[in-house]
Amino acid sequence: MIRALMDTAEGGVGDNAGLWANAALALESLYGETPGFADWLSSLKTLVDDAAAARRPDLRAWDESHAQWWRRPSNVGYSTYVDRFGGTLSGVADRLDYLQGLGVTYLHLLPLMKPRAGESDGGYAVADFEDVNPALGNLDDFIALMDKARSRDVHVVVDLVCNHIADDHAWARSARDGDARHRNFFHLVGDTAEVSRWEADLLDVFPDSAPGNFTWSEDLGAWVWTSFYPYQWDLNYANPDVFRAMTSTLLNLANMGVSGFRLDSTGFLWKQMGTTSRNLPQVHKILAIWRALLSIVAPAVVLKAEAIDRLEEVLPFFGSPEAPECDLAYANGVMAGAWASLALGSAQPVRSLIQAAAARPSQAAWINYIRCHDDIIFSGLAPHVAPEQQRLAAARLIGEGPGAFGRGEIFQVFEGAPSLNGMAASLSGLTVDALGEARLKLLYGLCFALDGTPVIYMGDEIGLENDETYRSDPDRAGEGRWLQRPAMDWDLANGARAGIGPSARIHAALKRYAHIRARHPACADANSVRVDADQSDAVLSLYRGQGPDGIQILANFSERPVTARVGLERSWLDLLTEEPGEGEELVLQPYDIKWLASR
Ligand code: GLC
Repeated sequence: MIRALMDTAEGGVGDNAGLWANAALALESLYGETPGFADWLSSLKTLVDDAAAARRPDLRAWDESHAQWWRRPSNVGYSTYVDRFGGTLSGVADRLDYLQGLGVTYLHLLPLMKPRAGESDGGYAVADFEDVNPALGNLDDFIALMDKARSRDVHVVVDLVCNHIADDHAWARSARDGDARHRNFFHLVGDTAEVSRWEADLLDVFPDSAPGNFTWSEDLGAWVWTSFYPYQWDLNYANPDVFRAMTSTLLNLANMGVSGFRLDSTGFLWKQMGTTSRNLPQVHKILAIWRALLSIVAPAVVLKAEAIDRLEEVLPFFGSPEAPECDLAYANGVMAGAWASLALGSAQPVRSLIQAAAARPSQAAWINYIRCHDDIIFSGLAPHVAPEQQRLAAARLIGEGPGAFGRGEIFQVFEGAPSLNGMAASLSGLTVDALGEARLKLLYGLCFALDGTPVIYMGDEIGLENDETYRSDPDRAGEGRWLQRPAMDWDLANGARAGIGPSARIHAALKRYAHIRARHPACADANSVRVDADQSDAVLSLYRGQGPDGIQILANFSERPVTARVGLERSWLDLLTEEPGEGEELVLQPYDIKWLASR
């Protein structure tokens, strides 16, 4: 085997030889027992070399000039569906001015590859990785959008739905036709007793709408593993041909000009009897190998883990400085903690989660966010927030109980705690009471102050509310997450830019956060957040940076005015309002947030 590794390492130069050698060792540990492994490894090496040779000169130049572009403190992200925001890919290209007006430099486009016909889980059931959704345009439009965006220093990050494919993808069709090679692309189980043995340790992703992890297929004559919906067939990464095919997809998209990948459902890639088949060590090997191969072909292209789990399960997705995996991961615990704090009127949940998230390794960075296209999962807050507190927070965010301001909805109950749907504005009670606007600004003010890149979810910048229209659309009515997938309201957005109403104030607040973040030395990547617990229960107090260059963030999570302790020099500047102040204390109005700097 050593011989095979040496043979395939030949021809590498400099660091690339080392990257390949490490990848080859990890591949051997995953697939070394497979007959024909040496030939397979050399075919993978050829794939990687060909991709490296095929990389366009302008993209190679971008790799060199944009190493670690994703860590710049000036980055602001925006996450959206192509159709809901710009109609088509060229429509998004036409809207870059709007995004740049907000300071956006990182544009996450939700799934845009050709989806399954009919229901497709919002595009997360991909029928063809080599083509885009024809409703959005064609591959030329896709490449043109990325080129235009990159020329304006906006970097497009796309979903790589790597765990599963649609049941009408060519590999699935071929498997159904009886092709042995493609049958082996999936986890097929012949009898119900074996299904039960697997299920004994598995969890359900959609316990209400798609219970169980297997779907019977008459054509296959077997149960096929489907962690998500029955039409999303999990790929079998224990088969090296699956790994190679998906690596080819990754490198091919990178060479089209993608600046980064959101690796969807990263934790699910490897299955092992007797375990939950989530976040297994083999998953981490696959990610470390992908990082290494991508570093050979397209080093500035970033990998982001979609691992929505407890913090101790998420942190390993960063890997280590010696064996990096994903460069970015969602700070989903902080996000859910912020909502819990808002609902409970106590800073404790978010304080505890922020403190724990500071453990991220130095080579990696967080993606901070308030909302996304999915539900808010509270169960990931354990052990920081007790289950009854999770349930209480969820109840308040759906408007249950006296004074409850939220207008969210329950999606499903997961590990004893409900998960919630709803746009940030509706969950904050924007039109429910006079404090809704302050709640939304508080959450985004925190998101922008944290260590990592803030990502705005489309429409939040203008306080777009829940979209009820999905209920009367038969294709979407069965999926509650469409509540937070509205079409952009361009009249409202244009009004916001013209300075009218609460939308304008929210938009202006986000721009202000972005502006300060990009310029203040305290927001540099090296300054992770320090939590100051010496405050009353409702107050979150954080520091970034040290000494005269440091800032203090103070936020009141309650609906009453509270006194907060200022830990800066005697006089300070409120960076958000530009008002000076002094003293060791200040009063925070309900849901107020302040970014203070010493003067
Ligand atoms: C991720 C996506 C979610 C989708 C699931 C299956 O969690 O964010 O929307 O349903 O993966 O692809």
